[in-house]
Amino acid sequence: MKTTKTTANVQRLPSSGEQRLRLDESALEAAKRSIEKGAVTPSYGPWREDIISLLNDALATEIVCTLRYKRHYFTAKGIASPAIADEFLVHANEETAHADMLAERIVQLGGEPDFAPTTLTDRSHADYDASLDLQAMIRANLVAERVAIEAYSQMITLIGDKDSTTRRILESILAQEQEHADELSDWLA
Ligand SMILES: [Fe+2]
Ligand SMILES: [Fe+2]
Repeated sequence: MKTTKTTANVQRLPSSGEQRLRLDESALEAAKRSIEKGAVTPSYGPWREDIISLLNDALATEIVCTLRYKRHYFTAKGIASPAIADEFLVHANEETAHADMLAERIVQLGGEPDFAPTTLTDRSHADYDASLDLQAMIRANLVAERVAIEAYSQMITLIGDKDSTTRRILESILAQEQEHADELSDWLA
């Protein structure tokens, strides 16, 4: 039976008005043709470039967060707080892992991950920080984590069902940023 809509998964049957879940056959055929696009198929539609751009801003943020935590790790280690310094290092490594996940996804989407150092701090949502005082370091990291949480939450809402793989990656990163913020606010208390 022929249906009326070809681009969405929910299609309405003309006779009964009943909704059925059907794949868009023309998009499946198009997927067979453009193999040079790798993992990028027609369902990405017009959003691919915007998603790559959002991911690149998040990548810049993760790199700046890695640098800030590394700076704090080496500085705090020298000022009597090995436990907190060690936690800064754990966070630094987790931010690096986030950056890697984002860069990998950008490439899968056919984009170029932007690691250019000269523009990093302009593109990052969160700030670098070179505080020498432990409380100030914790506070700067908490501010940065809160910015990251807000940015990832907005990205997840914006992407919605436009790209479920990217959304799942962002959701897993967001969960870890929330853990980071929780730990930091416990230390401030
Ligand atoms: Fe992160
Ligand atoms: Fe974080």
